[in-house]
Amino acid sequence: MIEIGILGSGSMGTGIAQVAATAGHIVHLYDNNPSALSRSEAFISKIMARLVEKGRIDNTEAEIIKGRIHYETNMFACSESSLVIEAIIEDIDIKKQVFEQLEDTVRPSCILASNTSSLSIASIASACKNPERVIGIHFFNPAALMKLVEIVPAIQTSQETQQKATEIINSWGKITVLAKDTPGFIVNRVARPFYGEALRIFEEGLADAATIDWAMTEIGGFRMGPFTLMDYIGNDINYTVTETVFKAFYYDQRYRPSFSQKRIVEAGYFGKKAGKGFYDYAENAVNPEPQKNQAKGEEIFWRILYMLINEAADASYLNIASPADIDLAMTKGVNYPKGLLAWADEIGIQRCVNGMDKLYNHYLEDRYRCSPLLRKLAREGKGFFK
Ligand SMILES: NC(=O)c1ccc[n+]([C@@H]2O[C@H](COP(=O)([O-])OP(=O)(O)OC[C@H]3O[C@@H](n4cnc5c(N)ncnc54)[C@H](O)[C@@H]3O)[C@@H](O)[C@H]2O)c1
Repeated sequence: MIEIGILGSGSMGTGIAQVAATAGHIVHLYDNNPSALSRSEAFISKIMARLVEKGRIDNTEAEIIKGRIHYETNMFACSESSLVIEAIIEDIDIKKQVFEQLEDTVRPSCILASNTSSLSIASIASACKNPERVIGIHFFNPAALMKLVEIVPAIQTSQETQQKATEIINSWGKITVLAKDTPGFIVNRVARPFYGEALRIFEEGLADAATIDWAMTEIGGFRMGPFTLMDYIGNDINYTVTETVFKAFYYDQRYRPSFSQKRIVEAGYFGKKAGKGFYDYAENAVNPEPQKNQAKGEEIFWRILYMLINEAADASYLNIASPADIDLAMTKGVNYPKGLLAWADEIGIQRCVNGMDKLYNHYLEDRYRCSPLLRKLAREGKGFFK
């Protein structure tokens, strides 16, 4: 069994270490901050104890898994690893420095992966003498529970690296999708309208947060409404992802962040973790009830759904991923009730085009431009999977 190296023992590094150790690998988990390593070790112990309590594993297995993870204060401990996954701070200059050092530490055949959410893999790979062995392996939080992993080859990545990396991650019981090295990859790009359009509806005063959440869960079948989800993710994190994607797409208006969410962040209302976000999480807090008007709810749901489908269609149009992988990513990565492109086929492509054109004609904003692929499919009477 190959050895796995992980750089950064924060929330992602710790989760990935748990997954790799559970799959049977010896894991070298390195961090330059010893207290982060202690926190990570304590967290893994707690999780293992919980799994034993729930009867998922027995005591012996828990001890074996824990024993496979070595907490390291020197990167050199990863020298025998066949795959090293970097999950350190999201800073391009620091990541490049670390990759440069890492390449000199490991064997020539070792695959060097980054778990970055928003940085370019091509840029990280450019720090290495052999960039063909660098790849993006993007896990979702919490890594132990979320099935989806986006595999992101850079333009420098070799076929062999891509194939080997995919094989290893699949062998850990994960579902892999192949994504182009573009901002937000699949999930963080295609999901933007779920938040962005909900915020726009909120800012226009068409409905409040509770009503929009009700429309998306009760009418749309989504597991969580956008405002509940933004509060859960943390408005600080969600806002930063939106802003990063917006800048990376050269200020395309479709991804424009919202002032309402910016103010929420500036006020420190980060969401659940802060006790307050769009909702109040204090013990005896009374939050507003949704206005359960069916017609209004439908209007909100369809508007957000058309925007999501349009984004997914554009991702397919621009070859970010295959239609099947886009749908898999959204159902397994963010638990959407249906794949967006299969959903488009089900309700009819022409209906999606009409929905987008209606929004565009009302607002006359580039934000509401219909994807050329939706128009083409509608013209030809085709679907994404039909
Ligand atoms: N948190 C998420 O939801 C999420 C999801 C997917 C991907 N990611 C990506 O994973 C990476 C890590 O995110 P996180 O949320 O686990 O961060 P985190 O802040 O919880 O952990 C980062 C860890 O890296 C360590 N570190 C920083 N610089 C280092 C260096 N030079 N050498 C060694 N260790 C160093 C820190 O001490 C810290 O323990 C980021 O690139 C992020 O974009 C995060």
